[in-house]
Amino acid sequence: MNRTNAPGSPAVTNAPATFQVKSFGCQMNVYDGERMAEMLGERGMTAAAEGTDADLVILNTCHIREKAVDRVYSDIGRMTREDGSRPMIAVAGCVAQAEGSEISRRAKTVDIVVGPQAYHRLPDLIAKAGRGEEAIDTDMPADSKFDTLPARTRQTRPTAFLTIMEGCDKFCTYCVVPYTRGAEISRSWSAILDEAKALVDGGVKEITLLGQNVNAWTGQDDRGQMQGMDGLVRELAKIDALKRIRYTTSHPNDMSDGLIAAHGEVAKLMPFLHLPVQSGNDRILKAMNRSHSVESYLRIIDRVRTARPDIAISSDFIVGFPGESDAEFEDTLRIVEQVRYAQCYSFKYSPRPGTPAAGMDGQIAPELMDERLARLQAVINREQVAFNNTTVGSRTDILLERKGRYPGQLIGKTPWLQSVHLTAPDHAIGDMIEVDILSAGPNSLAGEPSRRKAA
Ligand code: 5AD
Ligand code: SF4
Repeated sequence: MNRTNAPGSPAVTNAPATFQVKSFGCQMNVYDGERMAEMLGERGMTAAAEGTDADLVILNTCHIREKAVDRVYSDIGRMTREDGSRPMIAVAGCVAQAEGSEISRRAKTVDIVVGPQAYHRLPDLIAKAGRGEEAIDTDMPADSKFDTLPARTRQTRPTAFLTIMEGCDKFCTYCVVPYTRGAEISRSWSAILDEAKALVDGGVKEITLLGQNVNAWTGQDDRGQMQGMDGLVRELAKIDALKRIRYTTSHPNDMSDGLIAAHGEVAKLMPFLHLPVQSGNDRILKAMNRSHSVESYLRIIDRVRTARPDIAISSDFIVGFPGESDAEFEDTLRIVEQVRYAQCYSFKYSPRPGTPAAGMDGQIAPELMDERLARLQAVINREQVAFNNTTVGSRTDILLERKGRYPGQLIGKTPWLQSVHLTAPDHAIGDMIEVDILSAGPNSLAGEPSRRKAA
């Protein structure tokens, strides 16, 4: 199907047969993108083959930093083909939620705008757009999208994401998430367990539980007892064919005693914790409304390490928050060295419309941000290389997840989330095997299957 309508004219009446979902940003968008694809598949549409034009392109967008938003508009612009035709274009995700109808005003070729809580209504929106009607839905409906999405079926990978809670009530002063994803809402115990079982029945060996503040999850179990995420993890661990459990992203204030204990007690819970601290300076943490201090954060890390001594820790950092002095920035370098992170994500502060920090005094010049980011990344890189080097010569279990770049090469993950490249046949994807780690680089390891078979 080709749309040749001039920009701004009504959309062509047409029903798309093929689709492509392009997800940007966080893992929750990846999850949402998969659920959209499954839903459209159930409605008889098919995913466009690699390298072919789709009738419908869904851009599943991220609003967390300005760059991510600019990318959406440039992607939309590039979708009109040389002959003037274009696919039906849907903007989903957090940009859709934040900008709403502004998107179709700014980019006239956008047919559908759908927020992250409303994408279960995508089939209706596609029909509307096909009739040339306005198709915008940024509701945060009381009925959960999860109730109407189709059940999970056979999966193409041995690993899967599973959203267990959405939204955020923390209101860090720099962050748009509480506005785009709404208030914290936990999915029910039974919905999560049913989805996990369906994923495992579909071939999944590892599940990563997702939420903006995943460790704030609460709910009643099937006996009516209140549970936290640790209870959920213990229950999931009873699913025999599920081999590994991970979760992300966590907030320091929601690291409960039970969850810390679970790290020492539940073998299937992988020894990896993504616990963002954002800054190593208390005044900045306060201005960010993080509601934890450097010291309370470090205490949590200590307790987690006591429960599970080999746990790998990762974090997110923001440099150049309004008013950040050189000395305050250097505190961030110090915490990276002190914690000895296994890996980290670091970002330049990006003022987001409608957030308190965007109106704060002392916005930092871009050149200074660039310089701080480069200095921080150098320290992070050094720590990451040091962490990876500790594994050289060791023997560990990996889950073979996908093909590598070269023929005959597969990529698996260690319990500590490191990628291991090795030679193995394609049919081994999905296997847990024991490997010897031969060498380490900053971003991955090289290994070979050990002769002994993994337990
Ligand atoms: N500018 C830069 N980084 C941000 N993050 C969130 N909001 C912003 C912003 N306005 C980062 C935080 C968060 C990660 C997902 O994105 O580090 O943990
Ligand atoms: Fe954003 Fe803070 Fe909520 Fe994380 S905890 S999603 S950084 S507001």
